[in-house]
Amino acid sequence: MKAKVLAKELLSPRLYRFDVEAPRIAKKTQPGQFIILRVNEEGERIPLTVADFDRDKGIITLIFQEVGASTELLAKLEPGEEILDFVGPLGQKSEIEPGIGTVVCIGGGVGIAPVYPIARGMKEAGNKVISILGARSKDILIMEDEMRAISEEIFITTDDGSYGVKGFVTTALQQIVDRGEKIDRIYAIGPVVMMKSVVEATRPLGIKTIVSLNPVMVDGTGMCGCCRVEVGGETKFACVDGPEFDGHQVDFDGLRARQAMYREMEAREKDHVCRIGLGRDE
Ligand code: NAD
Ligand code: FES
Repeated sequence: MKAKVLAKELLSPRLYRFDVEAPRIAKKTQPGQFIILRVNEEGERIPLTVADFDRDKGIITLIFQEVGASTELLAKLEPGEEILDFVGPLGQKSEIEPGIGTVVCIGGGVGIAPVYPIARGMKEAGNKVISILGARSKDILIMEDEMRAISEEIFITTDDGSYGVKGFVTTALQQIVDRGEKIDRIYAIGPVVMMKSVVEATRPLGIKTIVSLNPVMVDGTGMCGCCRVEVGGETKFACVDGPEFDGHQVDFDGLRARQAMYREMEAREKDHVCRIGLGRDE
């Protein structure tokens, strides 16, 4: 189905926030889920985890980085213009329930955006939310105010030390562990290398750690096999079985190898135009 861009904001160079009018999708979306969009007939399908949703206003908020031809096309849209195909909500929702206890929500870079609705949901369910936001530098840190508003405690890290603690998100996680905080669950979303580091840090501590994977996706319905990942020795499809998985079971090295393979293919086939239409209108 078509969806109109209602608002557009440049958060930092090449990083955009779009509010999109999609009332039927907003009504059903749960934290952790994603949409797939196609800007126009020439555009590739772009899967984006939902950064926020407003059921009353019928708005889906997306935060995305301009990284290639398709996201450049998306970034060119102005308020009032329409996205040709907007499909969702897709994937499994986050397991949010009361009584989990202390939940540490970790977002790295653009990964802060999809962590926000999970953290908010955890707080609304009555859990204690401690957030860790990591960015390369202060000027590209996003959603600090939103995350601060729903977190009991927040840690900011920057790789260059321009704001908060100097280091990675794992530096702040270590501080929380070292002070003896009892952590019941961790959500970590960001670059694969970050999620892998978080998982390696929590494995010996036995803390359940959920990661959200965003491998290359095409149909988003479990048919094409593009988004397959190895989890606990089994093949799973991120689009229908995920995107969230138990991080301790994920084969991150396999995931990185597949990402690298697709990057090479993209570089070779820069002029490829995806002609597969989206099969569902919602
Ligand atoms: P980035 O490279 O700027 O890194 C962000 C933060 O991650 C860093 O500031 C640091 O705190 C942490 N980090 C990086 N390397 C680390 C390491 N080796 N150990 C521990 N922590 C480390 O991130 P970016 O350029 O904003 O990229 C964001 C990534 O998130 C993209 O790769 C994108 O694919 C991914 N992402 C995933 C989802 C999802 O739903 N799974 C959604 C959006 C973005
Ligand atoms: Fe095709 Fe997941 S995107 S199987």
